[in-house]
Amino acid sequence: MSDMLIEKLRKNRDLTDDELRSLIDSCEHDEALRKAADEVRRERYGDAVYLRGLIEFTSYCKNNCLYCGLRASNAKAQRYRLSREEILACCAEGYELGFRTFVLQGGEDPYYTDDIICDIISAIRREYLDCAITLSIGEKPRGSYRRYFEAGANRYLLRHETADPAHYAKLHPDNMSADNRRRCLFDLKEIGYQVGSGFMVGSPYQTTDNLIADLRFLQELQPDMIGIGPYITHRDTPFRDEKSGSVELTLRMLSILRLMFPYALLPSTTALGTIHPSGRELGLKSGANVVMPNLSPTAVREKYSIYDNKICTGEESARCRDCLELRIKAAGYHRTRRCEKITVHSK
Ligand code: 5AD
Ligand code: SF4
Ligand code: FES
Repeated sequence: MSDMLIEKLRKNRDLTDDELRSLIDSCEHDEALRKAADEVRRERYGDAVYLRGLIEFTSYCKNNCLYCGLRASNAKAQRYRLSREEILACCAEGYELGFRTFVLQGGEDPYYTDDIICDIISAIRREYLDCAITLSIGEKPRGSYRRYFEAGANRYLLRHETADPAHYAKLHPDNMSADNRRRCLFDLKEIGYQVGSGFMVGSPYQTTDNLIADLRFLQELQPDMIGIGPYITHRDTPFRDEKSGSVELTLRMLSILRLMFPYALLPSTTALGTIHPSGRELGLKSGANVVMPNLSPTAVREKYSIYDNKICTGEESARCRDCLELRIKAAGYHRTRRCEKITVHSK
């Protein structure tokens, strides 16, 4: 019975809501799901794992998402900003270590005006014509997204977090909306970015119907990348007493995503590695095919504290790269330098 559902999902890349609910709500299909997801991943991508170098360049954020340690109201958060030169130094180190994608991620920090962001992007683009530049800096007006694209950015990560407006409202303050999030994602796509979206698994108040709505939203958006990870409680947020999400449900959702979106890039996230010592390896075995090691300077890593007990905060970039490479091999895959498609937009 369970195998029939999985076969149907694999063949049609879709199921009814009721069928999805029965997969999401039970652990009995997990082994078969994982096996099918790994087969589909190997058909499309072989054993390749893509590496993206993550540069967390600012821990300031003007927003107040209730789940996140970097929220503006968290007076205990340690704040830092990297200069253009520091960011370029991270890229140089990353390039030497074999990375061909740089992900510039940060809170929504008004200090970095569009002019500053464009200046940083152009400087990276001038030096690394063979690299993809990915931005992950939140909700912006369409005109800003266009400027970054024209400066040389090619990808943008913005998780939708939850597709259900009522659930979104429980996780965010009143000045943020699921609607604007959606607008941003469709703007990014129209401008020509390769887009990454995604959601947290096990966030407070999340129901199975919310997860189904997330899958339906992704079917509509058709993103190039889908990033999911367990929600992890941060002690200095209003959700300090909430439970973290589970490794099992996150892996189950990863496998379902692989079957629904065979071509998608699916990262095995740091959050997954944080809630379980082999979380990232299990993620790879459940359908994920991307890992994003940290390239930020060691001195600032601990300060980028979106959730408690984040891993890799004491490591040097080279050590993280080597550690991950060993983990990828041990899980039965190999890392590749190949950047599956870069389109450099030039004015
Ligand atoms: N636990 C897990 N993930 C979190 N994020 C933010 N706060 C948390 C948390 N407490 C995720 C969000 C955001 C991404 C950068 O980090 O999904 O989009
Ligand atoms: Fe800011 Fe992003 Fe954290 Fe929200 S999730 S508070 S936008 S860093
Ligand atoms: Fe960072 Fe293992 S990946 S130390």
